[in-house]
Amino acid sequence: MIDDLVLLNDWHPVVALEQLVDDEPFPARLLGMDIVVWQSNGELHAWQDLCIHRGARLSIGSVVDDCLICPYHGWQYASDGRCVHMPAHPDQQPPEKARVRQFHTKVKYDLVWVCMGEPAHEIPTFVEWEDEGFRNILSGPYDFVAAGPRVIENFLDVSHFPFVHEGTLGDPAYPEIADYDAVVSAEGVVAEGISVWQPNPDGTGVGAKVTYTYKVLRPLVAHFVKTKGGRFAAFYAVCPIDELKSRGWVLMSMNYGFDESAVELRRFQDAVTAEDIPIVESQRPELLPLDLQEELHLRSDRIAIAYRRWLRELGLSFGTS
Ligand code: FES
Ligand code: FE
Repeated sequence: MIDDLVLLNDWHPVVALEQLVDDEPFPARLLGMDIVVWQSNGELHAWQDLCIHRGARLSIGSVVDDCLICPYHGWQYASDGRCVHMPAHPDQQPPEKARVRQFHTKVKYDLVWVCMGEPAHEIPTFVEWEDEGFRNILSGPYDFVAAGPRVIENFLDVSHFPFVHEGTLGDPAYPEIADYDAVVSAEGVVAEGISVWQPNPDGTGVGAKVTYTYKVLRPLVAHFVKTKGGRFAAFYAVCPIDELKSRGWVLMSMNYGFDESAVELRRFQDAVTAEDIPIVESQRPELLPLDLQEELHLRSDRIAIAYRRWLRELGLSFGTS
């Protein structure tokens, strides 16, 4: 088991609700542990994906009568995690220790969130998603062979737009980033007034400056709002699968473009993320260095500096060095 109490006691998205099928166990992985997520009779469960008998994976078993059944010798686990039946000894009461390890679960923003320890915080609020004047689109999952903090830091970084997202989010003819402030507090990081030139920010084909406000809400959850006419918000939730493997979802929320196709908006996000993945996967060291003497920081990296400082204050160790 990992010893990073910050992430252990935090909520992490593990699967989109739409990927879960009632009575079908779903294999996931969180913080280096295989877990099985399953839903039966309106109840959601996340357990360690391990049968206590001989260690078979429960996620390749089946759900019958609200019990998860191990595929190997048919032990039946009730929804409270206790083994209630061992077919080889039908008259024997299963011992008290024949129970699986259970984790906390919650559904929020169309994602299933799991906390492996004791939740020290709520799942962060995505204000725009909860606002009726906005339309919401979930995109992802996006898999990175990279540490979660590297993935989040890339989400916070606007100075890569002209080079990695040329023609969509940036233009190499306008790479300059004006000064902005990034404030660290116990709750996270806020950076307002980050202004970027975009080739076509409002669909009219005319380039203009767009202003972003970024917030880091939890070590692996961040949010931005960009304004140029309407408001477009994104909430990035990253699951730390292993120290060097992450899965992200981008939740988009906007108060305009109600007739734009959700398929197209998702496709746009898929294309942008596909440009980010090889860059983030190429970064070395793989673990995000929290010592600010490491790597080189510019004024335009203020938000990344603030993020690293906050992670260091929190004492985050998983995915950092
Ligand atoms: Fe699960 Fe034997 S390993 S019942
Ligand atoms: Fe990017």
